Amino acid sequence: MPKIVVLRWGHRPQRDARLTTHVVLTARALGASGVILTDVKDEKIKETVEKVVNNWGGRFFFEMGIPWEKAVRKWRENGGVVVHLTAYGENIETSDVLERIKASGKDVLVIVGSQKVPREFFSEKVSDFNVAIGNQPHSECSSLAVFLDRYFNGKELTKTFENAKIRIIPQKRGKKVVSSDSEF
Ligand SMILES: C[S@@+](CC[C@H](N)C(=O)[O-])C[C@H]1O[C@@H](n2cnc3c(N)ncnc32)[C@H](O)[C@@H]1O
Repeated sequence: MPKIVVLRWGHRPQRDARLTTHVVLTARALGASGVILTDVKDEKIKETVEKVVNNWGGRFFFEMGIPWEKAVRKWRENGGVVVHLTAYGENIETSDVLERIKASGKDVLVIVGSQKVPREFFSEKVSDFNVAIGNQPHSECSSLAVFLDRYFNGKELTKTFENAKIRIIPQKRGKKVVSSDSEF
């Protein structure tokens, strides 16, 4: 199965910390292999991600501070395709864009923005596919979640995260967790 990595562009440390953290948590929980936070560094987010991975398990990487141009260039040089999530793109429901992405058989770099993205993101130089999760504006988190769920056909929701210190046992009501650490 090809892997998916998320490129988070446009993070403003003063404004976007919570939302970027949610993008990373969404990426991890819904099957992506990692997130690249481009152009800026935010140590607090890195710390949060490390804590989550340490407690909740699984393999997941978080890189930051790489210029977006370099991240995209490297990805393409390594044979991956680039998907830019944007309300202006091909509608994931009414077009065959998802089938074309899957048919490529290649690893996928998914770009999500925050503020208005550079125009080049829409061009062939950057994106192989511009994908809309419906053509209404909403959020980087919701668009990423829907994209990943459709890409993995829901199977990511059954994933086991190896080496987890804490694991939820699903219940009709209440909370049940098992833990390998007395802290929980
Ligand atoms: C809050 S939106 C801001 C978009 C910005 N106003 C613009 O015009 O580019 C932030 C990000 O959410 C994602 N997004 C929002 N709505 C989307 C949609 N309908 N389909 C796909 N991605 C979407 C895009 O990645 C976008 O860069």
